[in-house]
Amino acid sequence: MPTPAIPAPGDHEPITGPLDVRLRPITEADLPDMLRWLADPEVVRFYGSPPESLEECRQQYLEPGVNPCWRFIIEWGDLGRGGGGGAGGARSVGEVQYWRRYPGDEYLWDAGVDIFIGEPDARGRGVGIETVRTMLRYLFEEKGVHRVTIDPEVANTRAIHVYERAGFRLDGVLRHHAFEHGEYVDTHFMSILEDEWPAAKQRWLDERA
Ligand SMILES: CC(C)(COP(=O)(O)OP(=O)(O)OC[C@H]1O[C@@H](n2cnc3c(N)ncnc32)[C@H](O)[C@@H]1OP(=O)(O)O)[C@@H](O)C(=O)NCCC(=O)NCCS
Repeated sequence: MPTPAIPAPGDHEPITGPLDVRLRPITEADLPDMLRWLADPEVVRFYGSPPESLEECRQQYLEPGVNPCWRFIIEWGDLGRGGGGGAGGARSVGEVQYWRRYPGDEYLWDAGVDIFIGEPDARGRGVGIETVRTMLRYLFEEKGVHRVTIDPEVANTRAIHVYERAGFRLDGVLRHHAFEHGEYVDTHFMSILEDEWPAAKQRWLDERA
């Protein structure tokens, strides 16, 4: 069987959330924002050491990698749909990505997600939970995956709270699964299955009502 081409990280459609979050494909024009966000202390703490130059950032976030990875810029604000993100139009505030493990394999049941909000004033305002839920809806309902996983560091209690609220459950602790800032750290391996999504989605709808 021929090896399928690895897709470019920004070569995909945008995802529109129900309220004031839109996820659009990353482009070269986003690199200065990405470099700034990745150097933010909160992002560095839980996302690892930042790239040192625009070129390094481009290689890490725009070059097709070993695994297929689709990257989105999170836009938040007034998207003209009555959301609560604030007036004056939408702005880019962070990045979210998903990957799938087996390129070209027809049994593509599994997807993994990573996220960061790079603009400090956009954290703690509901953007993260809305983005995660929007991504889950897309992966389960449009991509037809069976399981979505995420692996925050054990110390990242805010991220863990957000993922649990979105419907993820703890599968287990992966000991020394990451090496960050000169030390090994444990991570939570969390997942949500396709048959758990309807209840998680209902909680989302109830909270919005
Ligand atoms: C983690 C992150 C994506 C969450 O997004 P966010 O927009 O800040 O989060 P939200 O505003 O949607 O929700 C924050 C929730 O966490 C809760 N929270 C805040 N600090 C917390 C803490 N230290 N421990 C537990 N919960 C916390 C808030 O009360 C809120 O919950 P509630 O709405 O149920 O009251 C974002 O903060 C971020 O990018 N942080 C830096 C990088 C990072 O950690 N990325 C994740 C790597 S796995």
